[in-house]
Amino acid sequence: MTCRGLRQEDILALAEKATESLKNAIAPYSGFRVGAAILSSDGRVFTGANIENYSLTLVACAERVALFKALSEGAREFKAIAIACHTGDYCYPCGICRQALYEFAPEIKVMLVSEKGIKMPSIKELLPFPFVK
Ligand code: THU
Repeated sequence: MTCRGLRQEDILALAEKATESLKNAIAPYSGFRVGAAILSSDGRVFTGANIENYSLTLVACAERVALFKALSEGAREFKAIAIACHTGDYCYPCGICRQALYEFAPEIKVMLVSEKGIKMPSIKELLPFPFVK
């Protein structure tokens, strides 16, 4: 498997990191665990997992945890983000995460990791009409 600008080993390593991050999910209310791993253009990988709260609307999705960790560590350009969920099926990012990814990483590839394989749409395919100012 290859993708423009991404080596096969990067793809597989990122998929593995997202899957490993599932163990860090804090999801007592939904029971739905999500893991993510984002690869910045300077070669760093930042992981994330979903974090829920008594106040349910405060949930932080795995993708935004990974993205915000990366941004707060100075990363500004991104190649790919891998997303895995505990069901082993494809987990598409929610609308809010698509908007956040679009703004900070408009060229990013979104790797949907499942037991059936990996799909790799671009964020522009997933969010064709983003909100922009
Ligand atoms: N969740 C994510 O972490 N990423 C998504 O893109 C969709 C949903 C989390 C939020 C919540 O903790 C759980 O999955 C169920 O909605």
